[in-house]
Amino acid sequence: MKLEHQKNIQMLNTLRIPSVANAYVNCRSLLEIRQAIAWACDHDKKVYVLGGGSNVIPLQHIQGLVLQPKLKGIEVFVHNNDEVLVKAGAGENWHSIVCYCVERGYHGVENLALIPGDMGAAPIQNIGAYGAELKDVFWQLEALNIQTQQLEVFDFADCDFGYRDSVFKNAKRDQYIITSVTLKLSTKAKPNLSYPALASHLRERGIDNVDAKDILNAVIHIRRSKLPDPRLVPNAGSFFKNPVVSVQQYQTLLASFPDIPAYEVSLTQKKLAAAWLIEQTGWKGKPLDKVLVHKDHALVLTNPSCEIADKVLGLADAIARDVRAKFDISLELEPRLIGEL
Ligand code: FAD
Ligand code: EPU
Repeated sequence: MKLEHQKNIQMLNTLRIPSVANAYVNCRSLLEIRQAIAWACDHDKKVYVLGGGSNVIPLQHIQGLVLQPKLKGIEVFVHNNDEVLVKAGAGENWHSIVCYCVERGYHGVENLALIPGDMGAAPIQNIGAYGAELKDVFWQLEALNIQTQQLEVFDFADCDFGYRDSVFKNAKRDQYIITSVTLKLSTKAKPNLSYPALASHLRERGIDNVDAKDILNAVIHIRRSKLPDPRLVPNAGSFFKNPVVSVQQYQTLLASFPDIPAYEVSLTQKKLAAAWLIEQTGWKGKPLDKVLVHKDHALVLTNPSCEIADKVLGLADAIARDVRAKFDISLELEPRLIGEL
């Protein structure tokens, strides 16, 4: 285990926020993770888990230990006639796993192409895009309990997945380090074209008999046209979750804002487009303290001058305040803070 002190983790988060961690360790094995936790325990340090850093807001000074579980390895098991289980280490890159599966004819993850980050983080917010969510292909995961140092298995029911949500953001928050994730994938093609923009993209190009590679390529194309590349423009994807409201609240809003986009969640709930709400407040393309609302997508905040977390959160607060004032809706941050406020 190679512990580093006073480590600037600016290059380890896609918002490029300068942030100094009191201690930092990159762990390549379960043994190294256990050694790191033991060190944190001996030195009374809180453990903060960091994956690819694409959904975090690290505060300027982090008093605890930042631990990156970079466990590698992929195993494939035949599950039954037309299903396989693909188990990957927490440190495997998510998009590489998607490509690995598509190349081998394992179906189910192609709609989730190009989401940045590591395998181990995917269950935390039940990553989702283009009509699919991790939960649709999730089989189980292994996670180290930070308190007991025991490795525990979480099945689907244990994870309590929801929209951008799981047990790891609620009852079991900050208590586990996910070490591997296993997906259940089909060897039979089951194209998921439920997302209208994806279906029309393929239709416009005359692609019928759609296979997983077509979906993978289409999703990559659409994503590149919509979202800034974090390697070029520091960002964390969507900065807020799309708010879910009651049908009653939606009807009230509709009376005042007849163009408000909404998607059905259930008979009693609707999901609103946070990007639309933000655009209506006039923030799209606008800066505050050198942090910007992206000119092409109002839900993406960019940090081209590599400002500290306080500045990024300052813009988020100003946006949330204006959305609350105009629509009486509270926006919830999607990226997670690292460190204590
Ligand atoms: P990090 O940002 O490092 O961590 C995120 C959270 O997970 C933190 O709370 C961290 O403590 C925790 N965590 C990470 N690894 C572990 C582990 N092994 N064990 C326990 N806790 C852990 N998300 C979507 O859902 N859909 C999208 O379409 C999407 N598009 C994006 C586009 C862009 C351009 C960007 C920058 C981000 C996007 N995201 C999207 C958000 C992000 O990519 C996902 O949330 C991703 O899963 C984060 O992975 P990460 O490894 O970077 O996690
Ligand atoms: N819109 C605007 N202004 C904008 C952009 C969008 O008004 O500047 C409106 C449009 O009406 C559009 C709607 O918002 O139809 C939705 O926009 P988009 O299709 O881009 O999707 P999104 O709701 O902004 C969500 C996820 C993304 C995911 C895409 C595709 C959340 C918080 N975000 O974005 O996930 O990739 O759908 O499925 O659910 C992420 O979580 O980081 C992320 C990028």
